[in-house]
Amino acid sequence: MFDVVTDKTQDESRQGEAFAPFAQDPNTYKKRFYIESYGCQMNFADSEVVASILHGAGFGATRNLEEADLIFINTCSIREKAEQTVRKRLTEFRKLKMARKGTLVGVLGCMAERLKSKFLEEEKLVDIVVGPDAYRTLPGLVEEAEGGQKAVNVLLSREETYADIAPIRLESNGVNAFVSIMRGCNNMCSFCVVPFTRGRERSRDAESIINECRDLFERGFRDITLLGQNVDSYYYVADGNQVDHGAQVAVTFAELMERVASISPLLRVRFSTSHPKDITDDVLHVMARHENICKYIHLPLQSGSTRVLQLMNRTYTREWYKAKVDRIREIIPDCGISSDIIVGFCTETDEDHADTLDVMRYSGYDLSYMFIYSERPGTLAARRYKDDVPDDIKKKRLTEIVNLQNELSLLSNQKDLGKEFRVLIEGESKRSELDWMGRNSQNKVIVFPKEGVNAGPGEYVNVKVTECTKATLIGKVI
Ligand code: 5AD
Ligand code: SF4
Repeated sequence: MFDVVTDKTQDESRQGEAFAPFAQDPNTYKKRFYIESYGCQMNFADSEVVASILHGAGFGATRNLEEADLIFINTCSIREKAEQTVRKRLTEFRKLKMARKGTLVGVLGCMAERLKSKFLEEEKLVDIVVGPDAYRTLPGLVEEAEGGQKAVNVLLSREETYADIAPIRLESNGVNAFVSIMRGCNNMCSFCVVPFTRGRERSRDAESIINECRDLFERGFRDITLLGQNVDSYYYVADGNQVDHGAQVAVTFAELMERVASISPLLRVRFSTSHPKDITDDVLHVMARHENICKYIHLPLQSGSTRVLQLMNRTYTREWYKAKVDRIREIIPDCGISSDIIVGFCTETDEDHADTLDVMRYSGYDLSYMFIYSERPGTLAARRYKDDVPDDIKKKRLTEIVNLQNELSLLSNQKDLGKEFRVLIEGESKRSELDWMGRNSQNKVIVFPKEGVNAGPGEYVNVKVTECTKATLIGKVI
């Protein structure tokens, strides 16, 4: 209820977006499916895998909910509010289902995993429940559901990475793409439900990642984000039989990034998300070395108080985090840094909160995603600690960090006035068809007039910043 995210970014604005590739002649397919996705970028990437699996089994997609035979909702459990949004949407689907006999509703993703078959009892009109590691079994589950059975598969896997499945991306802008490089999470942050919903960490075959990225580049994509819950712990050990006469060949995250970056200097590479404890100097040096690896790190702080960090099981102190920020600035002086912050975690005092404000100021974040703590059933925090910070204090603290972040974002943008950046054009500005919108390496949005610019989406231009707001840089092509 109090969950607030300030600065809307691309993924936030995509919440609930319908996913509808290849809707062609209705007679080509045995059934039509519709997928709606919520939550993190990983979920959006997973929906593209699901679309590919369903397409392979002879189903076609539709953008139109009313004409769908199968309605899927890919869900998020990270905060209670995310789950409430999904439940509300399910009640709307229920009406459609009543009106159109034979329509099946399937719940995918983290909420499916968290609630398992309980979902079928709680939400009577849900027919299919599938966890994040069981999407390959979807066609079979659809058949079961068609036969009148309730179909559930929430088995988690230690191996599944969907490495061989080519995601379907017809809904994209043709410039930005997300490539999943690992799944699951072995960190045990006490507030977080992800280790329970997405299982153990596993890394995807490096070759399949490179091939997917190369293919994207050849199809015109120019900005690839390597995705994982904890990308810095990427570690793939290939069976090197074909490669190196029986030797085991291991690929680290730094090496993987380097290989993706070397596909072409015209391809930008980003990654998300890093746990501060895992981002190595190697990664920072690789970033510094390659012009096309973007100078931007999302480095979630969560709290600036060492005592709270310990309760959160984050495994670093405030000093350690600050030293990490120093290290980033030393190796990559122009690096953009953003953060995730939770206020009102169990036992958080005014002093702890002041520590968070202090680290925010120290780090000078360009952007933060800020949340009120939401207790999640089954997590370490739910079992061990009391959610004891009153709602009004949580709200007040959230307002304070949001205000500070607004100041920091504006300050960061003001520092860019007069500077020149290489900008990749992503599309038309949302505000005006006379302007292009793109991003610089630091992930900042830059808007500039189209007039006289002989370039379009997927192409690079040099832009000089002339004005700014806290969210956007405004400039002119030079
Ligand atoms: N309550 C509030 N925020 C949470 N996050 C994760 N779990 C919770 C929770 N229980 C936030 C963290 C994480 C981001 C993806 O969501 O800040 O980095
Ligand atoms: Fe939500 Fe986390 Fe699951 Fe992504 S991994 S959908 S953020 S709970």
